[in-house]
Amino acid sequence: MARMGTQALRDSVERINTLPVLPGILKRLLGLIENPRVSLNQISDFVSSDPALASRVLKMVNSPVYGFPGRISSVNQGVILLGLNVVKGLLLGVTVFDLMQKSMVGLWEHSVGCAVVARIIAKRMGFREPEEISVGGLLHDLGKVILILRFPKEYGEAMELAEADGRTIGETEKDRFPANHASAGAWVARKWSFPKNLTDIMEYHHKPHLARVAPYQTAIVHLSDVLIRGRGYGFAGDRCVPPVNPATWERFQLTKEDMKKILAEAEDALEMTKDLIL
Ligand SMILES: [Fe+2]
Ligand SMILES: [Fe+2]
Repeated sequence: MARMGTQALRDSVERINTLPVLPGILKRLLGLIENPRVSLNQISDFVSSDPALASRVLKMVNSPVYGFPGRISSVNQGVILLGLNVVKGLLLGVTVFDLMQKSMVGLWEHSVGCAVVARIIAKRMGFREPEEISVGGLLHDLGKVILILRFPKEYGEAMELAEADGRTIGETEKDRFPANHASAGAWVARKWSFPKNLTDIMEYHHKPHLARVAPYQTAIVHLSDVLIRGRGYGFAGDRCVPPVNPATWERFQLTKEDMKKILAEAEDALEMTKDLIL
């Protein structure tokens, strides 16, 4: 591919729903998500019309990722409890990561793991809407999926470079693309009218000090991303464990004791999410 400009990449990423490789269910979901006036009922009907999807959604809602363990038995109830934005994000996570499981084995585990840890931290901090953080954790690397689907060859090269040079995938992406997965994720998130908080998390999860709309949530997802990499859970495109941003340490003032507790709680929660692995 001749080196493309940022705008060309953005246009291409934003037209992701025209890709022939997308399965029908994902196309229909993107059609729904793109409509800013989609209703809870429409979403609920969509999920209920596909038994495999419905069972996955229920598993997810009742897992430590969302924190309603074993209490939600119907899709309708889940959709109402979680709210439109959270359910949209959850559906996208389940559908889109399934599609790309072959290209980056382990990214789903990385995403679920990050969501689990982010939720634990958010709860410890007394955060009032941890579901939003869960979605942020689940979708923070969505840009990787989009770039892989659109440009499998170039993305494969970026992964090879990361392996060969011991660099992070976020860095080697820049050798092959004019922007990295964080930008790509934020572009589609805006196009799909995702909440601004979620877009901020996606855009700045590697540079949390630059987040303006949701700096607190972004810092939580950033920290969780590093922790879950450090734990060796899942695969995010490289074998690095990048440092935690100094501003994030400063913001949370976590002690060694706090970290131990977070990690211990995460171990239990990860154990309970095993059946979410696609
Ligand atoms: Fe990332
Ligand atoms: Fe990540």
